[in-house]
This record gives sequence, structure tokens and C-alpha cells, in this order.
Amino acid sequence: MTDRNVVIAIDGPAASGKSSTAQWVARRLGFHHVDSGSLYRAATAAQLEHQGAGDAEQWTEEMVLASAQRVSFVPAEGTFSPLLDGAPCESALRGIEVTKHVSRVAKMPRLRDWVNELVRRTAKSRDVVVDGRDIGTVVFPDAELKVFLVADPWERARRRLIQRLDRHPTEDEIAAETDAIVHRDARDATQTVQATDAILIDTTYLTQEEQVERIVALAKAVTRRPDKTSAVDG
Ligand code: CDP
Repeated sequence: MTDRNVVIAIDGPAASGKSSTAQWVARRLGFHHVDSGSLYRAATAAQLEHQGAGDAEQWTEEMVLASAQRVSFVPAEGTFSPLLDGAPCESALRGIEVTKHVSRVAKMPRLRDWVNELVRRTAKSRDVVVDGRDIGTVVFPDAELKVFLVADPWERARRRLIQRLDRHPTEDEIAAETDAIVHRDARDATQTVQATDAILIDTTYLTQEEQVERIVALAKAVTRRPDKTSAVDG
């Protein structure tokens, strides 16, 4: 017996579509979506707000951990959201400064323990679809289903830019974003690990609907839970 509810783990590198896919899969199954990266981002945003980016090289684990205490992780409709000092902070989390510094924060072992504890707690009260990089290996090594999403860096850059700019990006913009993604892949490499029992899905040539359908089908097979909705409704 385990002291938790059902867990579906979706891991993969930057901009591989983990979060949006996890969100849709969760909605289809009536599970809650948990974005573990949002907690690393919230701790980084709290630290930036406290000290600014000027001396970011000097941040210690103690400083960032102290800032992280201002973050709470609360259930809302179908998801868990990080709050900073009790207030929503979603737009700050996606900003360039947070994205620039988050990988270094994510290297701090006690920060990882703090995130893992908050993430594990969500599954005590809800069935969850959790996305991240080490969910199937470290956070929930006994998850009922593990998926590892990969895609070609150029395609990941193109998708991330469409999401950010809400228009078709130019080739130059995609090239610059591909560079940034490849750099972040390198910085995140040690914690981005495919579990030996994870199912690998390359989404380069799949539509989001197709990848959601595949994971929902796999999830239904392992959890024997019915579909809450008949189709992906975006
Ligand atoms: O969505 P995207 O791939 O851009 O990143 P994210 O999921 O928001 O995660 C932001 C950062 O948090 C990553 O670049 C990693 O450094 C870190 N992270 C991690 O180390 N472990 C996780 N389980 C999730 C995120």
C-alpha cells in the first residue's frame, strides 16, 4: 500500500511540451496538474525580487531557500499554483530574468528537496499528472505511468516562440531561441533523466492532440479510469 493517490510522471527537456501536455492529460482524466518547474521558477522569482539580478552569481543556497519560504503551492481548478506572498505570480515566472537564473537555482540540493517535498504532498490529496525533469526517477520512482517527451531543438524553439509571441517567428528568431534552449539543455542535463521504465515519445512530428491521445490511452490502461471528456478541447 502507498500513502498517495495515482501519479502520472511526464519528464523531458526544456520546451518539449511537458506542461501543456500534462495540463490536457490531467483535464481529460479529471486529475490535477502539477508543474514542478513552476516551483523552481517561483523560488527564483522570490530571490530576484528580494535581491535583484545584479549579484546573482553570489546567491547561496541559504539565501534562495529563505526566499522560497515566501512561496506556497495551492490547489486551484485542476492545477496547483505557486503563490508568492499569497498572491498569484504566473507572469513573473515566465520572464526572461527568471528563465536565465532558474537552472542555477535548480542545482541547489536543498532547493530540490524543498520542491520535491511540496510536489509529493500534492499526491496525498489528489490524483496528479506531474511534469518536470526528474519526476519519474527521483520524485515518484514508483509512478503508475512514466512518459519522457523529446523533440528536435529547432521544433521546440519554434513552438516556444509561437507560445510567447503569439505569431509565427522568423528563421532568425528560431535560430536564436534554439541556441538558448540548447544551452539550457546542457545546464539541466544532470537532472533531466529518462527513467528506465519510462515510455519515450518523440513529439517532433506529432500534433499536441496526438501526443495527448497517446498518453491518455496509456494512462487509462494503467489506471483503469474513464475519460472525463471525449476530446481535447485545448
Ligand atoms: O517549461 P520549461 O522546460 O521551459 O522549464 P520548466 O519546466 O518551467 O523548468 C524551469 C527550470 O527548472 C528548468 O530549466 C530546470 O532547471 C528546473 N527544473 C528542474 O531542475 N527539475 C524539475 N523537475 C523541473 C524543473
